[in-house]
Amino acid sequence: MFMASRIQRRAFSASARQLSKVTVLGAAGGIGQPLSLLLKLNPKVTDLALYDIRGGPGVAADLSHINTKSTVKGYEPTPEGLSAAVKGAEVVLIPAGVPRKPGMTRDDLFNTNASIVRDLAKAVAKSAPEAKVLVIANPVNSTVPIVREVFKAHGVYNPKTLFGVTTLDVVRASRFVSEVKGTDPKDEEITVVGGHSGVTIVPLFSQSNHPDLSSNAEIIKRVQFGGDEVVKAKDGAGSATLSMAQAGARMADSVLRAVGGEKGVVEPSFVESPLYKDQGIDFFSSKVELGPEGVAKIHPVGQVDANETALLEAALKDLKKNIEKGVEFVAKNP
Ligand code: NAD
Ligand code: LMR
Repeated sequence: MFMASRIQRRAFSASARQLSKVTVLGAAGGIGQPLSLLLKLNPKVTDLALYDIRGGPGVAADLSHINTKSTVKGYEPTPEGLSAAVKGAEVVLIPAGVPRKPGMTRDDLFNTNASIVRDLAKAVAKSAPEAKVLVIANPVNSTVPIVREVFKAHGVYNPKTLFGVTTLDVVRASRFVSEVKGTDPKDEEITVVGGHSGVTIVPLFSQSNHPDLSSNAEIIKRVQFGGDEVVKAKDGAGSATLSMAQAGARMADSVLRAVGGEKGVVEPSFVESPLYKDQGIDFFSSKVELGPEGVAKIHPVGQVDANETALLEAALKDLKKNIEKGVEFVAKNP
């Protein structure tokens, strides 16, 4: 009798650990839909919760016919719907917000997206304060500090659970290098540090298989401004959605792998970081080792050459301003 209940308890706690609700806020958008599709295909996701100010239940109904085991639920665009969507989530992804049009910088999105992200962060702080929050909405360099300030105001901030998604920058760097060198992108792991916009994106080719590329201005610029290529090609119809969905799904999968106990899962991410705090820069993207609690270890930038040192200096200058802008926004518009 005693043995049986112990075995049952063990079995229960093992299955409880494997239950991973993942919520997408902005699920009916250009990123939200393919991201939700990829999450529906991920066996680590057991419950998929989709929320948007319009169209969440429709996307959910569609995805729910896919014959993978997870449940999919779409939520009404009400405060109650939002709260229910995030409640109990292990991971909350936030691609809600407007995308760029040609001629715009990511910072031009601030006025619209800052309040969207602030309000969604309030709901997560109230209903899912322990969730790992993956911020996709731009400008990431400012929206991530916004989430921190909201969580702080609610007394629930944990720096280990807040991530700005910069995965697309390493995805691009890997692909662009493979094109130049005629290699397989899976063999091209490029460290990209800094933030997620223009010159704040710093690829460290000196640490890659191809140190010669660290003086190749063309490929450095392509990694820094890869987003612009897509904005231009889409010609007013938005920015990267499909590649972003893949990058976001990869990041979510990595977080879930680490939650499940896998060791050595490393992803670059824009997190609260000690690396440049002495210069007043609280957030920085570098390689982050993930663990069950979220951030387990922040890797240093490592050795860089003179060219990369100059790139980093330029990045830090912009980053500081972007981060301060997010912090100030919440102070003035709580
Ligand atoms: P989109 O306009 O196609 O979709 C955005 C979705 O958000 C829409 O469905 C909209 O209804 C929804 N939304 C708006 N306000 C909301 C709210 N308060 N609550 C819930 N949902 C809300 O845009 P997109 O192409 O999917 O891009 C979304 C964001 O992601 C943009 O800010 C874009 O710049 C950013 N982005 C980031 C990266 C990155 O690497 N981090 C890459 C690409 C795009
Ligand atoms: C990207 O890098 O593709 C995104 O940040 C979207 C954009 O505005 O470029």
